[in-house]
Parts: sequence; C-alpha cells; structure tokens
Amino acid sequence: MTLFTLLIQILIILLVLFVLKIVLISIFFFKEIQAARAKDPAAKGFLEILLLYPGLHALIHHRVAHFFYKIHLFFIARFISQVSRFFTGIEIHPGAKIGKRLFIDHGMGVVIGETAIIGDDVLLYQAVTLGGTGLVKGKRHPTIGNNVVVGGGAKILGNITIGDNSYIGANAVVIKDVPPNSTVVGVPGRITKQDGKKIDIGLDHSHVFDPIMQNIEELQKRIEKLENK
Ligand SMILES: CC(C)(COP(=O)(O)OP(=O)(O)OC[C@H]1O[C@@H](n2cnc3c(N)ncnc32)[C@H](O)[C@@H]1OP(=O)(O)O)[C@@H](O)C(=O)NCCC(=O)NCCS
Repeated sequence: MTLFTLLIQILIILLVLFVLKIVLISIFFFKEIQAARAKDPAAKGFLEILLLYPGLHALIHHRVAHFFYKIHLFFIARFISQVSRFFTGIEIHPGAKIGKRLFIDHGMGVVIGETAIIGDDVLLYQAVTLGGTGLVKGKRHPTIGNNVVVGGGAKILGNITIGDNSYIGANAVVIKDVPPNSTVVGVPGRITKQDGKKIDIGLDHSHVFDPIMQNIEELQKRIEKLENK
C-alpha cells in the first residue's frame, strides 16, 4: 500500500465519521435546530445552523459534559466545557441543568453557572450571565422558567427564580425573583410589564428596589411641598 492510498483511506474514514456525526446531531438535536430557526430571523437553513451556530455547538458539548458531571468524572466534564468555551465563547458549567430547545443566539460571552437551572424553550442572547453573587456554596445561581427570553448583556445573579414567559431586557441586572409573564429592565432590574399590562413604577413600590429612584422620588416630593408653600 502506498502512502497515497493510505492517506485516501484515512480521509474517507474521517469523512464517514464527519457525516455520521452530522446525522446523529441532526437526529438528537432536531428540535433545538428548529428552535434556532424559529427564533433567529437571520437563520437561512438547517445546515447553516447545524454547522455554524455556536449556541448549538455549546449545547451539544454541554450535554456530553453534563453526562460526565453526573457520573462524577468532574475533570473530563470540565475539560469538555473548556474546549467548548474555547471554540464557541460560551461557558456553560457542566453542572448546569438545561431544559429542552434552548437557543443561545450569537453566544459570545455567555456564562452559565454550576447550579443554574434553565427550563424549556428559553432564548439567551450574547453576554448573558446566570451567575452567583458571592462565595456561598450550594444553590447559588438562578432558575429560569420556561419560555423566558434574556436580552443581550443581562445579568441574573443569585439563587432567584425567573417566572415562565418573562422577558429580561438587554443589559438588565436582576437580583430578585421575577413572577411569571413579566418584563424586567434596568439596573437593578425592575418590572415594567406584567401579564401584558404596563406597571406604573411610581406606584408599584413592591417592585422598586432602585435606591437612586427612591431618592429622586423623595426629592420630587420635597420640591412639590416647597412649591406649594
Ligand atoms: C425588555 C424588552 C423585551 C422590552 O420589550 P417590550 O415589552 O416591547 O417593551 P417596550 O419596548 O414597550 O419598552 C417598555 C419600556 O422599557 C424601556 N426599555 C425597553 N428595553 C429596555 C432595556 N433593555 N433597558 C432599559 N429600558 C428598556 C423602554 O424604553 C420603555 O420605556 P417607557 O415605557 O418609559 O417608554 C426589550 O426592549 C429588550 O431589551 N429585548 C432584548 C433584545 C436583545 O437583547 N436583543 C439582542 C439582539 S442581538
């Protein structure tokens, strides 16, 4: 056998393995690919998502890493997660529990912590952090409900729960529980819509936890008093 025929054989084997991998991913991640297609208006086709979407690749790696994590092979689990991070820019701790049909759009800079739990049909944009707030052990990362959208750059911190069907605005910092069907924006995050209705932040003190807003409101009241005099 010449070196040339050996090389051809190796190439054919690699090609077959590649095709096999593509077929397996298409079968096992069909719904995730469909979700990406539905949620990304820029997506042009099945093969494009399958081969070129970092969010999908990070998810595939995570499923494998999570398997090793569950059987306590932490080093291998972490190794897979770090390789995935290198190629996709998305860091998912192997311990994170992720539901069905997650779509991470763009993906770069996404960090998902060890005890984070993500429900079904969630959409995360780039630079989202599902992180902890300190050095506490145990459950210290958020739980994200079903059908939640987390905008680019948003930080959801601590052992809090984001209710089903909620929207977290781009760059929001959320540090308290969010009830279902809410829209949260700003730093710190405040609820601006619930069950499709706008919330008057001025009246809704239970949801205002912004000290700057509170100071401004107090100043406003004092000015009104002075003006009335
Ligand atoms: C939060 C979000 C879901 C709100 O959508 P919506 O329900 O249509 O809300 P509206 O656009 O009616 O905005 C409601 C109020 O919140 C404000 N707002 C909206 N998004 C905001 C944000 N990210 N940060 C701060 N304020 C925001 C609006 O200015 C508006 O204020 P007003 O009532 O004083 O006029 C949306 O604005 C958002 O941030 N989506 C994330 C998108 C994203 O990250 N895309 C990345 C693509 S690469």
